[in-house]
Amino acid sequence: MTLTVIGAGYVGLVTAAVFSQLGNKVYCVDIDQKRVQDLKIGKIPFFEPSLADYVKRNIKAKRLFFTTSYKESVPKSKVVFICVGTPPKNNGEADLSYLFAAVEETAKNLTTYTLITIKSTIPIGFEDDLEEVARKHAKSKFEFASSPEFLREGTAIEDTLHPDRIVIGTDSKKAQKILLELHAPISGNRIITDIRSAQLIKYASNALLATKVSFANDIANLCEKMGADVEKVLEGVGQDKRIGRSFLYPGVGYGGSCLPKDVLAFISIGQFFDYDLTLLRAVDAINEKQILRFITKIRKALGADEEKRKNLEGKKLAVLGLAFKPNTDDIRESPSIKIIKHLLDLKAQITAYDPQAMENTKKILPDINYTKDAYGALNGKDALILITEWPQFRELDLDRIKKILKAPIIIDGRNMFDINRVRQLGFKYVGIGR
Ligand SMILES: NC(=O)c1ccc[n+]([C@@H]2O[C@H](COP(=O)([O-])OP(=O)(O)OC[C@H]3O[C@@H](n4cnc5c(N)ncnc54)[C@H](O)[C@@H]3O)[C@@H](O)[C@H]2O)c1
Repeated sequence: MTLTVIGAGYVGLVTAAVFSQLGNKVYCVDIDQKRVQDLKIGKIPFFEPSLADYVKRNIKAKRLFFTTSYKESVPKSKVVFICVGTPPKNNGEADLSYLFAAVEETAKNLTTYTLITIKSTIPIGFEDDLEEVARKHAKSKFEFASSPEFLREGTAIEDTLHPDRIVIGTDSKKAQKILLELHAPISGNRIITDIRSAQLIKYASNALLATKVSFANDIANLCEKMGADVEKVLEGVGQDKRIGRSFLYPGVGYGGSCLPKDVLAFISIGQFFDYDLTLLRAVDAINEKQILRFITKIRKALGADEEKRKNLEGKKLAVLGLAFKPNTDDIRESPSIKIIKHLLDLKAQITAYDPQAMENTKKILPDINYTKDAYGALNGKDALILITEWPQFRELDLDRIKKILKAPIIIDGRNMFDINRVRQLGFKYVGIGR
């Protein structure tokens, strides 16, 4: 099948790479000229394991093409996947300007029946407006479907090839048949439903994941007051098969380009339909507070006077982890960036290290120090602050860390270090909920 994928971001590029690998001819369109130029020579705009191999292999096999031109790609395609960003506006609603522009441009270039399939996460209700825009500009037949994306950055290729489920949202039998055929080589259960239910599956899934994180953090905070160990508590809770341990981990809160924005957008959608998603407002509030609680921990661990605003003046702190989670260089809504901004506000000096996300961070935090490795960041510092749980941080030599830190203090935002071992070694250790 010949396909067009609009948007060469995390979702679009992975979708294009995987469908071309499965034997389809895929055009990937982006408005960012530099991005398209780079992609044509196999240069990937972000870090995602295995993606570069897939892209290069399929460019070489002449199954994957990059362009800025809708005209070059849309008329040849049976399916157009819309994968542009839907970032949050200041009021929490999703910014749909990229989406409307992409649908309008697609519609203008239709020459034969085409199935426009939305993979971007879009607020329920807007599909009617999108269809109206398409109808206004299209000179040929088209249909709309929604097939929300559930990939996780860091394991995006694997998730796209082996998803838990593929959601196909359309009432049209013809459209269902096309999407089922296209997805035939991909494993996972098929859920066929109407467009609105498909979009609701996406929002409800992300909302529940965020709820699990905030629930874990709420329990962790209670554990601190009660003197209980949240790791044992959640291990015990998560072993109940009805509940499961996934996403039930305490920390500095959820971040990234999806959960924070989708929770806020879902609350707005609820309001639009005159329904108050009370639970999600609490989930968001707990998440916001978790960062502030972590800042308080850092101040206390360093003996700083909580009353004084600039009370970390003169403190040199090492931050390990900038990406919103391991195995990505994505720093959108990263808790680490928020925490560093708070610490800078309190006049601390920050040296940071991340295996992949330093280049992106330098664009928004040019004035903090960056080092080539974790040990370089820790040398001579007043504390180690761990924020992103990259697996390689688990392997760090704690004896060496003890020697090179100015003060043996670890503030662990992910409960990554072995509490008994670090305390045995004489570190002052502060974790979450233990
Ligand atoms: N990133 C994830 O992990 C993830 C997972 C599931 C769902 N989603 C959803 O998928 C959507 C895309 O997310 P993303 O992270 O891939 O976004 P992204 O910001 O990484 O990429 C979006 C791309 O679209 C391009 N673009 C914008 N307007 C365009 C237009 N009119 N025509 C062509 N290209 C255009 C941009 O230049 C950019 O390259 C969002 O709705 C997001 O919520 C993301």
